[in-house]
Amino acid sequence: MRHPWGVTDRVPADRRLAGGATEAGSGRLRRRDTRLDSYVGSYAARTHGMTASAIRSLFAVANRPEVVSLAGGMPNISDLPLDVVAASLRDLVTIDGQRAMQYGPGQGEPVMREAICEVMKLEEISAHPDDVTVTVGSQQGLDLVTRLFCDPGDVVLCEAPSYVGALGVFRAYQCEVSHVAMDTHGLDPTALSAALSSLEQAGKRVKFLYTIPNFQNPAGVSQTLQRRAEILEVARRADLLVVEDNPYGLLGFDDDPLPAIRSLDGERVVYLGSFSKTFAPGFRVGWVLAPHAVRDKLVLAQESATLCPPTFSQFAVSSYLQNHDWRGQIKVFREMYRERRDAMLSGLAEHMPAGTSWTVPGGGFFVWVTLPPGLDSHAMLPRAVTARVAYVPGTAFYADGFGSRHMRLSYCFPTPERIIEGTRRLGEVLQYEAGVLQTFGTDVEADTVRGDRLYEAPGANQR
Ligand SMILES: Cc1ncc(COP(=O)(O)O)c(C=O)c1O
Repeated sequence: MRHPWGVTDRVPADRRLAGGATEAGSGRLRRRDTRLDSYVGSYAARTHGMTASAIRSLFAVANRPEVVSLAGGMPNISDLPLDVVAASLRDLVTIDGQRAMQYGPGQGEPVMREAICEVMKLEEISAHPDDVTVTVGSQQGLDLVTRLFCDPGDVVLCEAPSYVGALGVFRAYQCEVSHVAMDTHGLDPTALSAALSSLEQAGKRVKFLYTIPNFQNPAGVSQTLQRRAEILEVARRADLLVVEDNPYGLLGFDDDPLPAIRSLDGERVVYLGSFSKTFAPGFRVGWVLAPHAVRDKLVLAQESATLCPPTFSQFAVSSYLQNHDWRGQIKVFREMYRERRDAMLSGLAEHMPAGTSWTVPGGGFFVWVTLPPGLDSHAMLPRAVTARVAYVPGTAFYADGFGSRHMRLSYCFPTPERIIEGTRRLGEVLQYEAGVLQTFGTDVEADTVRGDRLYEAPGANQR
């Protein structure tokens, strides 16, 4: 049997060609490895805004086994009961294969949309399946929503810092991103209100606020319930749409999930959900819950993008939800991530030099680190990789080049022991950098004084 995912591994090393191409049978398959692009003058203006994310370019080095990668945000699915999933996929093909492998409705399968409404009840969202559109991960939801609302030059408001994949989408649609300060209680409503006033004065068109209320990527902080209500209030006054992106909401370590912003207002909020972190990302099933008129347009956009979201994946995910204790599985994930979070926090407390601070996530995958003044996480990265530890520099999470005094560390994937070892290696790099700085003087850049509140975050750990 030929598995497409096994083919490369089976090619003996002596038959691999330079540049990663392989010999297949008697015919030689060569990848044309030229970087010259004869179409360079033909691309649409928006294509020039598409650049590889800092994370992608890091992947090649960060994935080497000797490097402890605190960089990627890959969900850790090692605790998934693969035998249960395998049995349910086998049944799906045998019993319902004709339907599961056929085209389906552009809005997504009814059975999937009904199950999604059940999942959302955990965050107090009461929704009708008719208002749900299934997407290829929540990433596609983000793309479709931006496509529907944004013309080039329109402004999208985002937390400072914000999810790198969202910034990529906004860039691709030629939006301007305006960052709004946040602290350990999440996005600051007063700063939001001020940003809206100054953008209005500047004659800018703000299309929506993009926010990640739970265990934010990259900062690891969550909006309190009071903040959610206040943010909505500001949005109502400014007649602003809120796009709530919530892939981590069910992965809290201590408390029950907070009510989603969408649960507080069904007309002003477009909600993005995903099974990537609560089940598995490979199925690529996410969704958008939107007010009815927006939902109509989303389905048209989805049809033009994909005809329909993947039928097989939807049947696979809904049969997992029907036949498996998915709530229990989420508990297993939460415990596993909590252990890793604890390892990271104790590693940081032990190994970070004085003047470093970090957030304390109550769930999700990420810790946001603020370095002592004068240190630059971007410039330092090659030295960290040489010391066999990787992270994502803070600049990846801002649209405006800010963030060099920060880094995102993720604890979701490595074992607790590797996480501790990673923080030890990182601590050595930081100690060295801080020493060099002391010897040769500090050149503190404007970056360190912009005033995004996560610097002196109350409740953030500090050394
Ligand atoms: C905040 C946020 N939104 C959206 C996504 C995309 O997730 P997916 O497309 O796998 O649902 C991610 C993935 O890491 C994320 O962190």
